[in-house]
Amino acid sequence: MAEKVRAGILGVGSAVPERVLTNFDLEKMVDTSDEWISTRTGIKERRIAAPHERTSHYAAKAASKALERAGVDPSELDLIIVATLTPDMFCPPTACIVQDRINAPQAAAFDLSAACSGFVYALDVAVRGVESGAYRRVLVIGADLLSHVTDYTDRSTCVLFGDGAGAAVVGPVEKGGVLSTYLGADGSGGPKLTVPAYRAGSAGPDGCAPGQGCYIRMEGNEVFKFAVRVMPEAALEALRRAGVAPEDVDLFIPHQANIRIIDAAAKRLGISSDKVFVNVHKYGNTSAASIPLALDEALEQGRISEGDTVVLVGFGGGLTWAASVLVWSGERVPRG
Ligand code: COA
Repeated sequence: MAEKVRAGILGVGSAVPERVLTNFDLEKMVDTSDEWISTRTGIKERRIAAPHERTSHYAAKAASKALERAGVDPSELDLIIVATLTPDMFCPPTACIVQDRINAPQAAAFDLSAACSGFVYALDVAVRGVESGAYRRVLVIGADLLSHVTDYTDRSTCVLFGDGAGAAVVGPVEKGGVLSTYLGADGSGGPKLTVPAYRAGSAGPDGCAPGQGCYIRMEGNEVFKFAVRVMPEAALEALRRAGVAPEDVDLFIPHQANIRIIDAAAKRLGISSDKVFVNVHKYGNTSAASIPLALDEALEQGRISEGDTVVLVGFGGGLTWAASVLVWSGERVPRG
């Protein structure tokens, strides 16, 4: 019998807008303070795309970096998945726009909608596709421009969100790779976090007028309680499936929504803070981009070495959650 193919991440990349929106900038826009935002969320600043920019722009940039580090030519790609809740438009899928932009004519392409859990959902699809032998090279992208669905008159949400993209190339590996994925959803909790209508670039002149429902509405406290419960549960289930004990995890990369949620989840898991990667202070919550953006920065900072066990865990609208355990097998082309 042929040996089971194991899938792993071959290369990672990310891209964020240049414009920085600080807590002090927000003080001038709504009744808030740097002190409130910092202590309640851990966020100090976030990146904001221009109104005319679209998700595909950052998705393609992140993808090109990931492909370069994986040593994979775009023409080798079999499939592109873009996880996003802020697509360029409803049709064509953002993944098809990226396919054209990076010149990957052999790749099938589709978008996946699982809010902030989207990257790990897409990773699961990619891993199963590679393990089955159906695909050899899958590009998984998490990209969102949440500023386009943020109501900058609502202080309870506008301080939380930012824009960005992260990408990973998935393919067969000889050592390490993705040991497990675990996805879940509870649709009954959907009304706790909604974007009822959508138009890309809604912050711009062609976008939605206030009151047209094009903005994130959230029961913050309820989502907070859900997140603190589900993050450790999801991570533990993924670890159980991988046969890995929590104490053997080298780096825990949680969805970057709020430092208090991250700290509470790490405490419940019994993981010390030096094993938890945090960059929420720089980017806020970038939804589907959050985990690959954090993974890319962790690699950039040398926080992950070959053979390290890494846990990715996210939660978000849906409500959804997703976790994955992987053993890092190293990028083909070294950074630097
Ligand atoms: N600046 C100042 N005050 C603010 C504020 C802001 N930006 N936003 C809310 N407040 C006020 C509220 O109006 C409330 O005032 P009140 O007591 O007079 O009514 C007070 O602060 C406390 O609000 P509360 O909602 O209880 O704060 P909190 O400690 O729960 O923090 C969140 C609010 C949104 C930061 C927190 O609930 C959270 O992070 N939730 C999860 C959000 C999330 O992760 N969503 C994405 C999922 S992918």
